[in-house]
Amino acid sequence: MDSIHIRGGRRLKGSIPVSGAKNAALPLMTAALLTDEPVKLTNMPRLADVRTLSKLLGVIGADISVESGTDSDVMTLHAKDIKSTTAPYEIVSQIRASFWVLGPLMARCREAKVSLPGGCAIGARPVDLYIKGLQKMGAEIDLVEGYVHASAPKGLKGAVIRSPIVSVGATHTLLMAATLAEGETVLENAAREPEIGDVARCLVSMGAKIEGIGTSTLRIEGVEKLHSATHRVIADRIEAGTYAIAAAMTGGEVTLEGANAEDFEAALSVLRAAGAEVESEQGAVRIARNGERLQAVDVVTQVFPGFPTDLQAQFMALMTVAEGESEITETIFENRFMHVQELARFGANISLHGDKALVHGVDKLKAAPVMASDLRASAALIIAGLAAEGETTVNRVYHLDRGFERIEAKLSACGADIWREKAKQ
Ligand code: EPZ
Repeated sequence: MDSIHIRGGRRLKGSIPVSGAKNAALPLMTAALLTDEPVKLTNMPRLADVRTLSKLLGVIGADISVESGTDSDVMTLHAKDIKSTTAPYEIVSQIRASFWVLGPLMARCREAKVSLPGGCAIGARPVDLYIKGLQKMGAEIDLVEGYVHASAPKGLKGAVIRSPIVSVGATHTLLMAATLAEGETVLENAAREPEIGDVARCLVSMGAKIEGIGTSTLRIEGVEKLHSATHRVIADRIEAGTYAIAAAMTGGEVTLEGANAEDFEAALSVLRAAGAEVESEQGAVRIARNGERLQAVDVVTQVFPGFPTDLQAQFMALMTVAEGESEITETIFENRFMHVQELARFGANISLHGDKALVHGVDKLKAAPVMASDLRASAALIIAGLAAEGETTVNRVYHLDRGFERIEAKLSACGADIWREKAKQ
């Protein structure tokens, strides 16, 4: 397995191009199953998760071609004929978003057999909301040997579905299912993460009728058929936020090219409160810190537009060296503190109390060999390593490759002393 090595202590200075958002790219790929015409996605990130989902869509019947550009790919997905409505365990267990093919398969084929999902080990992550939503639309659903068997022989019917909690994946799935359902579907208490808006806009260019994009009530009037479209994937707000935190951690000045400040304003305002300078302009965000020690700030993760759970681990890494004590509350996933024990290996002082972590800032971190436990936790370890004295080794970086494109290249272009060691074959 590859490892990443960092000699800490260098300030970051320069520009980082922000890639297309993983969490928009994945559902956009599944949306291509809704039509027998080609869907072209530009600004696609090059990530392990994209390759894994491509495999699944290939099994289902999509022809996928990829043209490589300098900073991103263009992917064309053409699901002319659906060959299989089964999403097998071997693939779905690797990446949770592949479970979301349930929505488009039910819409287009009126049946689907999808393995229960896997993905990062950050909590129980049930799928009851997906199932209840599809049942409201008339689907019959059974759970057999780890698979969701869903069918609606007469097609899905529009329904009013109020979710008791906000779920990104259930919103994507039900939104896609509703595009080809008979009549109107109303999704109340829908997620309004920017990636949902991005998918909804793509669906509209494919011919879907959707109102309320960007709000927590989505109204979808089902249509007979969707068609071909070309869509540009939005910038990855979590990647941008991660580099913003890295810049605040090391000091220096970094411009995040292509970042959209509105998509991660909650994180930027916390960084400002901690003492970083943040400026945003059309298509770029600049982060700087001029030598002064950052101040501890409390954070509570929330659904959008609140502070994202996907930046919690990275922000905790930053707080390990802030002045004072920071209380970090995780409200979205119950098990998303696995980075705490790894951060402790750098000499961080963190205590856990249920859904809260109390971080007492220390003067400096010391390099250590550490192990990545999930995607965003891996990024937190890189951030800690950038500031730690000595040489850090981050093992199990395959987690990182799921969601960060060329992280070591992007950071070393800004002056970080970071490199990858390839696993011996
Ligand atoms: C999406 O996961 C993201 N994944 C996650 O990104 C992100 O952390 C999460 O949304 C929250 O923003 C992708 O976009 C591919 P949820 P998802 O359904 O859809 C509970 C990353 O690092 N819930 O919004 O799986 C659930 O257990 C990741 O890129 C139910 O109870 O998250 C959780 O507590 C990992 N029943 C809460 O809702 C359900 O049926 C929110 O989860 C569904 C969810």
